[in-house]
Amino acid sequence: MAMHYTPIFFLLFLSSFCKSDDQLTRTKPLTHDDILISKGGDFALGFFSPTSSNKSFYLGIWYHSIPGPRTIVWVANRDKPITTPSSAVLTITNGSQMVLSDSKGHNIWTTTNNIVAGGPEAFAVLLDSGNFVVRLSNAKDQMWQSFDHPTDTILPNMRVLVSYKGQVAVSLVAWKGPDDPSSGDFSCGGDPSSPTLQRMIWNGTRPYCRSNVLNGVSVTGGVHLSNASSVLFETSLSLGDGFYYMFTVSGGLTFARLTLDYTGMFRSLNWNPHLSSWTVISESPKAACDLYASCGPFSYCDLTGTVPACQCLDGFEPSDLKFSRGCRRKEELKCDKQSYFVTLPWMRIPDKFWHVKKISFNECAAECSSNCSCIAYAYANLSSVGAMADSSRCLIWTGELVDIGKFSMNYGENLYLRLANTPADKRSSTIKIVLPIVACLLLLTCIALVWICKHRGKMRKKETQKKMMLEYFSTSNELEGENTEFSFISFEDILSATNMFADSNLLGRGGFGKVYKGTLECGNEVAVKRLSKGSGQGTLEFRNEVVLIAKLQHKNLVRLLGCCIHQDEKLLIYEYLPNKSLDVFLFDVARKYELDWSTRFKIIKGIARGLLYLHQDLRLTIIHRDLKPSNILLDKEMIPKISDFGMAKIFGANQNQANTIRVVGTYGYMSPEYVIGGACSTKSDTYSFGVLLLEIVSGLKISSPQLIPTFSSLITYAWRLWEDGKATELVDSSFVDSCPLHEVLRCIQVGLLCVQDRPDDRPLMSLVIVTLENESVVLPAPKQPVYFDLRNCDGGEARESMVNSANPMSITTLEGR
Ligand SMILES: *[C@@H]1O[C@H](CO)[C@@H](O)[C@H](O)[C@H]1NC(C)=O
Ligand SMILES: *[C@@H]1O[C@H](CO)[C@@H](O)[C@H](O)[C@H]1NC(C)=O
Ligand SMILES: *[C@@H]1O[C@H](CO)[C@@H](O)[C@H](O)[C@H]1NC(C)=O
Ligand SMILES: *[C@@H]1O[C@H](CO)[C@@H](O)[C@H](O)[C@H]1NC(C)=O
Ligand SMILES: *[C@@H]1O[C@H](CO)[C@@H](O)[C@H](O)[C@H]1NC(C)=O
Ligand SMILES: *[C@@H]1O[C@H](CO)[C@@H](O)[C@H](O)[C@H]1NC(C)=O
Repeated sequence: MAMHYTPIFFLLFLSSFCKSDDQLTRTKPLTHDDILISKGGDFALGFFSPTSSNKSFYLGIWYHSIPGPRTIVWVANRDKPITTPSSAVLTITNGSQMVLSDSKGHNIWTTTNNIVAGGPEAFAVLLDSGNFVVRLSNAKDQMWQSFDHPTDTILPNMRVLVSYKGQVAVSLVAWKGPDDPSSGDFSCGGDPSSPTLQRMIWNGTRPYCRSNVLNGVSVTGGVHLSNASSVLFETSLSLGDGFYYMFTVSGGLTFARLTLDYTGMFRSLNWNPHLSSWTVISESPKAACDLYASCGPFSYCDLTGTVPACQCLDGFEPSDLKFSRGCRRKEELKCDKQSYFVTLPWMRIPDKFWHVKKISFNECAAECSSNCSCIAYAYANLSSVGAMADSSRCLIWTGELVDIGKFSMNYGENLYLRLANTPADKRSSTIKIVLPIVACLLLLTCIALVWICKHRGKMRKKETQKKMMLEYFSTSNELEGENTEFSFISFEDILSATNMFADSNLLGRGGFGKVYKGTLECGNEVAVKRLSKGSGQGTLEFRNEVVLIAKLQHKNLVRLLGCCIHQDEKLLIYEYLPNKSLDVFLFDVARKYELDWSTRFKIIKGIARGLLYLHQDLRLTIIHRDLKPSNILLDKEMIPKISDFGMAKIFGANQNQANTIRVVGTYGYMSPEYVIGGACSTKSDTYSFGVLLLEIVSGLKISSPQLIPTFSSLITYAWRLWEDGKATELVDSSFVDSCPLHEVLRCIQVGLLCVQDRPDDRPLMSLVIVTLENESVVLPAPKQPVYFDLRNCDGGEARESMVNSANPMSITTLEGR
């Protein structure tokens, strides 16, 4: 029996022998192709080069157990790259310091711990927390640890020094660029004037963005996982002379980190193993107006609306139209008993406060109201924060209120703001006399208002709407720098153009709303897309659509002419296309004859050109994500125009793939990798195009089981016929006798290539166009698409917009018709 165990024992021995170590010792230095791997396999330490072309190498720590490009969490020699990696070596000296040196023996980087010569042997170990520590072999305490020297990332349970003996420390310094770990302009740390209460992101020496003031709420953000909600807790610690910041996580967060990126964005992120991507838990700055003091004094950045924008505090009005000089009081404060305080909830309270220590809420309120120069106060009970010298926090303001924000519910805190007299005072004694007078006045005012509105309202509304839109564009920087020629149409004009959204003007129901035909005063016919009210999704889609389409100009894309925001109404005004959408013809027994082959072929090529423009011709890559016949509109010459950019995704020019958290689209047209993993690329659009192409050729819907009972979908059906050499049977009978068959067959082949399971097997749109226009291009043979084979497609008419939350297994149908 014993013999049987020998090989197993041997294997175990071998594997432990080959396994990378987690320790660095005097006798075993680290050279350029070695790595240390923490015991549990979560982190690795070694040499890396951020780009393949650059010959600069760095010693760093990254996540070992996550796939894809390395996420670097720490860099040792960020400002002194190694140029000859083959000779670089990390050693421990006999003085217990760690030294990174190059071939010439120059020290590139050294740890800063005390030199302990002649003592016990020192070694370094990479822990599963991501901490790299130097210890003496006879002691538990570390002599040096990478957690004390963060670069741009904070890991869970890492204690970050904020201030020491009242001197602030810089906690994080961002990378200079996406591939350049050297110290960049952005840094983050405690605010020198109140390091224990708030943190700042700096651009050089200028404040860039300010955190919330410490208010005893320790939860930064939460993520809802399938069976638990996980949260990220922030804690502040005061130990000896030092004040520290730390965060911990609870409930199933795999790898959480806080990172200050090279653009100055500070994010909490969590690794989502289902989607293989980082999920943003929270980030700041959240919008352009969220940057430090960007709204001007007495103005706040309102982050609750669709479009974050500067607003005046209650009782204030804009000093100028652009809020650049902030807001001024409607009524000046007098130092008398008339003033009162309004409560503004969910605020990021202003900067430049006085901190009054150790008083109760009532004392804090009294402190402010008894002193004429105090214009606002805020109070928090910090007893839950722990380890603070003071368990209360009374802040009062005497000067300008700057850098204010307003969040949606359950974030931020109350700000009590002093305003000049008005409400409630004199009322009680004189109420009997005043009430009738007030009632009469009110009536008169109403009548007057109605009259004024009739005459002035139109102008004013146009103005404010225009202002909102300008604000909007100035805050959305996705496509900055391009000019938009755009008109802002008033809600009244739209009401009259669409005859009060009369049902007789209804053209159809698109994604997230209804579409009406309208005739503007000047006689132009337009299509008005009215987004459904109150749909949270609609808001995001609206933002996308406006920013995008306003700047897109292509023969095969629908043109956006204008837009209107009116209270919670959001409207988009498009060119009117009399021939409606492709599905109206394609799937209608009577009207399909209007589409002969040459028209269909033109439509296919037009869609392909439109897609090519979105994918490759712009400075940015745009992925439509919801390509289907009802989103292809036809003008009077039957030229196809791609519409409905509500779900489009924009990428930087050299990025063409991403994992998205929200999987949206229409089932049947979505590619397998997108449905399953949320991986979205231009090839997902190629897949949808392939489905569309097969539909145009066959006149069959992707999901029409009644037409092809023996096959689960059009793709399987098309593949079977192609495989059996009977592809002509797929061709729609309405034109099969009057078309050049070789052209149709070529289209089927392109269609099948576009719906291949693997994105890499699908052609680029540029190749599709060349192939369709040039008979001599030789095409590869398509492989069998198997992914959706077993899937039972039903739904017929239904448009299923799927939103895939962090859990890919729970796909929720949000909207149907
Ligand atoms: C590589 O990047 C470093 C750091 O930014 C820079 O100093 C160096 O010049 C770059 N080298 C090359 C070959 O581009
Ligand atoms: C190591 O220690 C010895 C004596 O203890 C000393 O002479 C030598 O310089 C040390 N080497 C280094 C690299 O510090
Ligand atoms: C950072 O500051 C520099 C000037 O100090 C400025 O040119 C740059 O635009 C700022 N960056 C951001 C993102 O505001
Ligand atoms: C769900 O619950 C199970 C059992 O309690 C646990 O093992 C698993 O980690 C949880 N999953 C998530 C994502 O929290
Ligand atoms: C009012 O408060 C300011 C700021 O705290 C202080 O400098 C001033 O002395 C106070 N005035 C009175 C009358 O208490
Ligand atoms: C803060 O809250 C705790 C418990 O919620 C309470 O015991 C304490 O008295 C409060 N402190 C102040 C100063 O109000």
